[in-house]
Amino acid sequence: MEKNKIEKNTVQETLIVPLYGRKMCSEKFPELYTDVFAERLCNRLDYDFSELEKKKNSFLYQFGALEAAMRQLDMIWEIKEYLKKHPKATIVNLGCGLDETGKACDNGLCNIVNVDFPDVISVRNQLISEQNREKNIACDLKDYSWMEEVDGSNGVIFFAAGVFHYFKKEEVKLLVLELSKRYSGGCLVFDSVGKMGLKLMMKKILKNMDIDDVGGYFYVNNPREDLNWSEKINVNSKGYMLGYYDMKSPGVNFLHRLLANAGDKVMKMSINRMDFE
Ligand SMILES: C[S@@+](CC[C@H](N)C(=O)[O-])C[C@H]1O[C@@H](n2cnc3c(N)ncnc32)[C@H](O)[C@@H]1O
Repeated sequence: MEKNKIEKNTVQETLIVPLYGRKMCSEKFPELYTDVFAERLCNRLDYDFSELEKKKNSFLYQFGALEAAMRQLDMIWEIKEYLKKHPKATIVNLGCGLDETGKACDNGLCNIVNVDFPDVISVRNQLISEQNREKNIACDLKDYSWMEEVDGSNGVIFFAAGVFHYFKKEEVKLLVLELSKRYSGGCLVFDSVGKMGLKLMMKKILKNMDIDDVGGYFYVNNPREDLNWSEKINVNSKGYMLGYYDMKSPGVNFLHRLLANAGDKVMKMSINRMDFE
């Protein structure tokens, strides 16, 4: 069977880390988290996983897998909460990679839209079949034409998991303001880290992509102040690792939770929800 190739050292390659993390987490901490699709998807990709395989028993690597899982659990929590009030809403996965969070939240009524670069969507189309009420859009998020294909008339929740770190601050702000203008009553959920967190965690990834100065890139030290972009947007934030779940689960030990706490408090890892009036 021909495998689907993901090019090295591109922004698109960054989808591998959370995908592999979700696979690992499902294996190591099944009580906390399971992603039935991740392993199957990893097996079908033309990508050299040996570097990741080598690290898979290290404490830090396991922590990275927990990060991928907690982020997805947090997003699912927010989406399900929004769907309680707007059951027919559209769920939009911004920079979806090979993530199937939309499906995990499907209530049988909502619509699901996944947006990513054309090469990622092409791999996605080959690996994951679109179900009813689901649509994939191949477009750069910075080219707002994709919004013309998103119907927010029954409510809309956008989420971006691990995506805005690759944007400049101004680019995130412009995107958010555009969404708030077009989708009154809608909501956007995304993760962020503070400046120190961005420098440390993204060092290797950004270096591989020839980005050596994170200065202009998007980080959030203080969500309520830093994201105060419009009177028509309400901002709420919670800790990324421990803001939604306490991570008390078999296999997750005290040190994992200690690091999770430091991630939230020191690295300022957070999940931000912006509601558009
Ligand atoms: C770290 S991966 C996260 C993938 C997915 N959200 C997940 O959690 O598994 C970042 C994703 O954002 C996508 N991305 C980054 N910048 C983008 C842009 N300007 N337009 C569309 N997609 C973008 C990348 O192609 C990649 O799939």
